[in-house]
Amino acid sequence: MEFGAHSYDGVAYCYDELASLYSLGRIEMSKQSQIGSLSPTERVLFAGVGRGRDAIAAARCGVAVTAIDLSPIMLGRFSRGLEREALRAEAIEGDVASHHPELLYDTVVAHYFLNLFEIDRAAAMLSILCRLVRPGGRLIFADFAPGEGGTAARWITEAYFRPVNWVAWAFGFCALHPIPDYPDLIERAGARIRTVSRFPVIPGLANPAYQSVVAERIG
Ligand SMILES: C[S@@+](CC[C@H](N)C(=O)[O-])C[C@H]1O[C@@H](n2cnc3c(N)ncnc32)[C@H](O)[C@@H]1O
Repeated sequence: MEFGAHSYDGVAYCYDELASLYSLGRIEMSKQSQIGSLSPTERVLFAGVGRGRDAIAAARCGVAVTAIDLSPIMLGRFSRGLEREALRAEAIEGDVASHHPELLYDTVVAHYFLNLFEIDRAAAMLSILCRLVRPGGRLIFADFAPGEGGTAARWITEAYFRPVNWVAWAFGFCALHPIPDYPDLIERAGARIRTVSRFPVIPGLANPAYQSVVAERIG
């Protein structure tokens, strides 16, 4: 299956800034939330790394980082971020679906990545990511969170998520789809959820929110 349709070259210069503005900083918070749980002995793949502030934070902690992205402009920004701090990481320009490393990774991080694809393709991509991590290893995802608390919660979440999905789709950055159902996708891929943390956009209001999902590859 071909997955190379959504390069972010066109928004590489402003993607992080737009994401911070739109989410009041919660997107960055969700991406950074698990970095402290990575240990310096781990080999970690960042799939669809983008400008990769999270991957740079991991490299700063001594983690062996490999980062892959379709967009040379995103990767260029990532590499310059590393250089500024004299950090090292492997940066690969290409499609993660064509990545066949000699050794499996201890952890695969795929933030705001599965939501590029319509649901069946997201499920196929998740299986690919699962096969890149060793049995017992972790998969870490930050993404939009589903509404929590009934019909009003679902409407608020939909009103927040849907327009940005339309705009991103209109520019070719993603497919039209609902917020991915991570528990379902993760179960279908043969992994198990370990933790889910929520990051509400407005403190005190449960919705809309972002989430960080940590899963474990079972077999
Ligand atoms: C929505 S952005 C998220 C970037 C980053 N993970 C973040 O959270 O800031 C998705 C990224 O995935 C990259 N991408 C899309 N399809 C890809 C693929 N098949 N393989 C590797 N990277 C891909 C895009 O170029 C883009 O940089």
